[in-house]
Amino acid sequence: MLNRRQILHLAAALPLLQGGIARAAAPATAAAAADADADAVNTRPIPSSGELLPVIGMGTSQTFDVAASPEALAELGAVLQAFFAAGGKVIDSSPMYGEAESRVGDVLRSLSPRPPVFAATKVWTRGREEGIAQMQTSAQRMAVERFDLIAIHNLQDWRTHLATLKQWQAEGKVRYIGITTSHGRNHEELLDIMRREPLDFVQFSYNIEDRVAEQALLPLAQERGIATMINRPYQRGSLFAKTRDQALPDVAGELGCSSWGQFFLKWILGHPAVTNVIPATSRVHHMQDNMQANFGPLPDGRQRAEMLRVFTAL
Ligand SMILES: NC(=O)c1ccc[n+]([C@@H]2O[C@H](COP(=O)([O-])OP(=O)(O)OC[C@H]3O[C@@H](n4cnc5c(N)ncnc54)[C@H](OP(=O)(O)O)[C@@H]3O)[C@@H](O)[C@H]2O)c1
Repeated sequence: MLNRRQILHLAAALPLLQGGIARAAAPATAAAAADADADAVNTRPIPSSGELLPVIGMGTSQTFDVAASPEALAELGAVLQAFFAAGGKVIDSSPMYGEAESRVGDVLRSLSPRPPVFAATKVWTRGREEGIAQMQTSAQRMAVERFDLIAIHNLQDWRTHLATLKQWQAEGKVRYIGITTSHGRNHEELLDIMRREPLDFVQFSYNIEDRVAEQALLPLAQERGIATMINRPYQRGSLFAKTRDQALPDVAGELGCSSWGQFFLKWILGHPAVTNVIPATSRVHHMQDNMQANFGPLPDGRQRAEMLRVFTAL
């Protein structure tokens, strides 16, 4: 957590930061600004409640796991302000991500007024008491009174934590509950849990290269009315190695995509069972790029097929 001196230093830097974002954003978004301003943010409902969420959220693994310093906080503050400026709301973290929860909390404490946030973290330990203590610590670190979503990280001791989370939800201590996995791990067990348990959210990997989730996870989530939060949308950044120096295809223009990042995010959003996608970045210009996928048309079946054809031919 930041000390008082560091927070004052950060607060002093914020007006400069805001000016920096505005100037940096202007050339990058000038062409798209009219569309983005005219268009509403793309949203999807959480099936269990009908609450609408902006389709692009953000992850914090590695990107926000940095030591507290005024410089790091100013940089992360600029990334988060670019997120909020483009209608972002959903922030996903975990105690597994080192200091990430604390850095998100430091920035949120420094913002006045504080923007609306859909705060999501995970429980990642073994044992009932350990899980409760960890979730309480996460709330302090991330500066939230009550999490919107707590998910069980990678199915770790899931029976124990699910019992606690159901009780917390019934008592109003958390709004939504869920479970996560990534890159194909434990899909069979996750499917079994999704069939039996009253989950609001499930989180797993899905991107234009890793399409395993199409086989069972996405259809089952749709059938059971479970919201999906998609991690690793860029396959941890490795998708960009394939598209370097490659021109965008015509279908990108139809969808208002001016970068491969927007192309990858919109391809994911073209699946009807996807609720929300959480790319992670430590850079303001990448955040501004990612947030453009929060606006404009999303691909239909023909366009998705064309996007996949183009990508696999690279
Ligand atoms: N089991 C789980 O619960 C689980 C597992 C995995 C992930 N997650 C969650 O999902 C989030 C996302 O997954 P991830 O972080 O593994 O991978 P990712 O979002 O697929 O990729 C992140 C990488 O993409 C780069 N990037 C971001 N935006 C870009 C852009 N517009 N252009 C070019 N490069 C860009 C980032 O680098 P720069 O920083 O340089 O932009 C970073 O190296 C995580 O942060 C975490 O919150 C959860």
